[in-house]
Amino acid sequence: MVKVTLKDGVYCVGVVDWNIRDFHGYITRRGSSYNAYLIQDEKTALVDTVKHSFAGELVENISALTSLEKIDYIIVNHVEMDHSSSLPVIAKLAKNAKIVSSVRGKEELIKHYGAEFERIETVKSGDTIKLGKKTLTFLEAPMLHWPDSMFTYLIEDKILMPNDAFGQHLASAGRFDDEVDQTVLMEEAVTYYANILMPFSPLIVKKIQEVVAMKIPIDMIAPSHGIIWRKDPMKIVNAYLDWCTGKTVRQKAIIVFDTMWGSTDKMARTIAEGIISQGVEAKLLKLRGTDNTDIVTEIVDAKAVLVGSPTLNNGMFPSLGTFLTYITGLKPKGKIWSFFGSYGWGGGAVKNMFKTVKEAGFEVLEPGIEAKWVPTAEELKKCFEFGQQIAQNIKV
Ligand code: FEO
Repeated sequence: MVKVTLKDGVYCVGVVDWNIRDFHGYITRRGSSYNAYLIQDEKTALVDTVKHSFAGELVENISALTSLEKIDYIIVNHVEMDHSSSLPVIAKLAKNAKIVSSVRGKEELIKHYGAEFERIETVKSGDTIKLGKKTLTFLEAPMLHWPDSMFTYLIEDKILMPNDAFGQHLASAGRFDDEVDQTVLMEEAVTYYANILMPFSPLIVKKIQEVVAMKIPIDMIAPSHGIIWRKDPMKIVNAYLDWCTGKTVRQKAIIVFDTMWGSTDKMARTIAEGIISQGVEAKLLKLRGTDNTDIVTEIVDAKAVLVGSPTLNNGMFPSLGTFLTYITGLKPKGKIWSFFGSYGWGGGAVKNMFKTVKEAGFEVLEPGIEAKWVPTAEELKKCFEFGQQIAQNIKV
């Protein structure tokens, strides 16, 4: 293992997962990492563990620095299994360690790994653990990413370890922000925010405001996925504030669609032309060719999302069902939604899609637009005008 030193006595002992391409449905083209941190002072603490398949590598990384029996504390910031599923193995080897989590974390750990975790000690915001000259303190951060989530802050070294928050699914040889390509880094950071944390945007803003009000100095942000922010930790904090509050939204529409025999495709392209004719950016994303992970990232800075589906068996095309299930769960705020599509002897897709997003509380522009069988020149003219109308709504 190449030693990854954050500061004197503070090391990243986690693992880089170069091969993962599907993280519970999120397409991770650039891999990921599961970062865990070892802090050595008079006492030794391990902050988080890794995915179970990498337990052996974590043990090797820790053993290069100390014996596992010398670990006094294992801090569990978050129970999701990418961070905790090697805990049963590590806890057995680190037999002198106290395990520490939030109250919700304890409940979840017992449910995941059994009654032996009844012995966990719980902490709440503001509690501290003295390691010697170094002190750990905790900040509960429910729903960033699960109810159990908390941040650990190393006071003297000014290092915030927020687990999932501010992470990226990015495997790289460089482990710090100043060692990787900035465009790639921010691409992966926004994709991660969009696909993992977007539904919790109001809570993220509140949590950032809480940390700012506490006036705690931050030299580094060391998340549990991807690179560690040491050169410019505020870059990712400010980016989160912009994404969460819609500050990056531009005059842009995305058109997500699928097609059976080309009619809905034709409508999508004509709508895009109508939008572009008004000086507004439009981007077409065809399902079964574009992954939902990438579509969601495109939605972050779009003002309007137009969704097209042919009618199949009186309803929407199956790929649209998957997309709408995913996006209504992620709850992007402040977008204009509308729908279009072709049908044969009876419609259903457009009506069903409107119904789905209205039930999720999305803002819609009705009635959308439909064409029977193959769109005529007159119907395509209406699609063009529909695009123009969308552009005007974006410009407001
Ligand atoms: Fe990286 Fe919510 O786990």
